[in-house]
Amino acid sequence: MGAQALVAEAGWNQSAADWRIFLDLGRAFAVKDAQGRLVATAATLPYPSGFGWISMVLVSGPFRRRGIATRLLERCMRALQGDGMVPVLDATPAGREVYRPLGFRDGWAITRWRWPGGSRPGSAARPLQQDDWPAVLRLDAQAFGCDRAALLERLRARSSHFACVVEKGGALGGFLLGREGRVATQLGPIVAEDEAAAAELSGFACARIAGPVLLDALDRHADLARWLEAQGFARERPYTRMALGRDELFGDPRRLAAIAGPELG
Ligand SMILES: CC(C)(COP(=O)(O)OP(=O)(O)OC[C@H]1O[C@@H](n2cnc3c(N)ncnc32)[C@H](O)[C@@H]1OP(=O)(O)O)[C@@H](O)C(=O)NCCC(=O)NCCS
Repeated sequence: MGAQALVAEAGWNQSAADWRIFLDLGRAFAVKDAQGRLVATAATLPYPSGFGWISMVLVSGPFRRRGIATRLLERCMRALQGDGMVPVLDATPAGREVYRPLGFRDGWAITRWRWPGGSRPGSAARPLQQDDWPAVLRLDAQAFGCDRAALLERLRARSSHFACVVEKGGALGGFLLGREGRVATQLGPIVAEDEAAAAELSGFACARIAGPVLLDALDRHADLARWLEAQGFARERPYTRMALGRDELFGDPRRLAAIAGPELG
C-alpha cells in the first residue's frame, strides 16, 4: 500500500488498521505523481459535536515545499466546514508551520513519550469489562468533547490485552485504551479524574506489553510527566493541538491525560 510507504518514510506508527478507520469513518485523500505513485496523503475524521479531525498529512521528501500539504489541508478544511464542522488537528512542529498561515491557532501542548520496555510498576487498575463500557463512553465524551463510540469500539478491540479502568469511590475514575502500531504499541486515550489514576492505568498497561510503547500526554499534567520519567519514558517529540479560527478547544483537558493519538484526537 503506497500510503504505508509514506508512513514508514516519516517514521510514523500507523498500521493498515489505522487507515481503515479513515476509510470507514472519515475520508482519505491522496496525491499521485506523473507516474501514478502516491506521494502525499491527508485524512479527515468527523466527530458528531461540531468539530472534525484532520490528520495523516504526509508529503514524500522530494515533493516537499511545493504547496502540496497546503492544498491537501484546504481540501480537508472544505470537506469538514462543508458539513458544519470546525477543523481541529494535532500538529508536528513542521506541520504547525503549514497550518498557522491557514488560520489554525495554537491550543494545548502535547508531548509524545516513548517507553522502550523494562521493569513494570504495580498498579491498582483492573481489566476493562463489558459492564464498564457505558461509563467509559460517558467519561470519554466529557473529556474529548463528544461521543466517539464507533472509534472507541475499534480501539477496545485492538487493546483487549491491556485495556483497563480504575475505580474511585465505587464509580469509574478513569480508563485506558490503545492499539498496536507499525513500530510500537500506542496507549491512549487515557481519561482519568486525576493524574495519579492516569499513572495507575499506564502502569497496568505497561505491565502487559513488552514494549516499545508510545503515549501522547497533555503537558499540563506535570505529575504524570514526572511519573512517566521515573518509569523510564523519554520525551520524543512535541505536538500542538490547533483549531481553525478559534482559541478555545473542545473537551476538558483536566480529564484528558493522554490523547488517542495525533491522527485521532
Ligand atoms: C510538514 C509537511 C506535511 C509539509 O508538506 P509540504 O508539502 O512541504 O508543505 P507546503 O509546501 O504546503 O508548505 C507551505 C509552507 O509551510 C511552511 N513549511 C512547510 N514545511 C516546513 C518546514 N519543514 N519547516 C518550516 N516551515 C515549513 C513554509 O512556510 C511553506 O511555505 P514555503 O515553502 O513557501 O516557504 C511535510 O514536511 C511532511 O510530510 N513532514 C513529515 C510529516 C509531518 O510532520 N506531517 C505533518 C503532520 S501534523
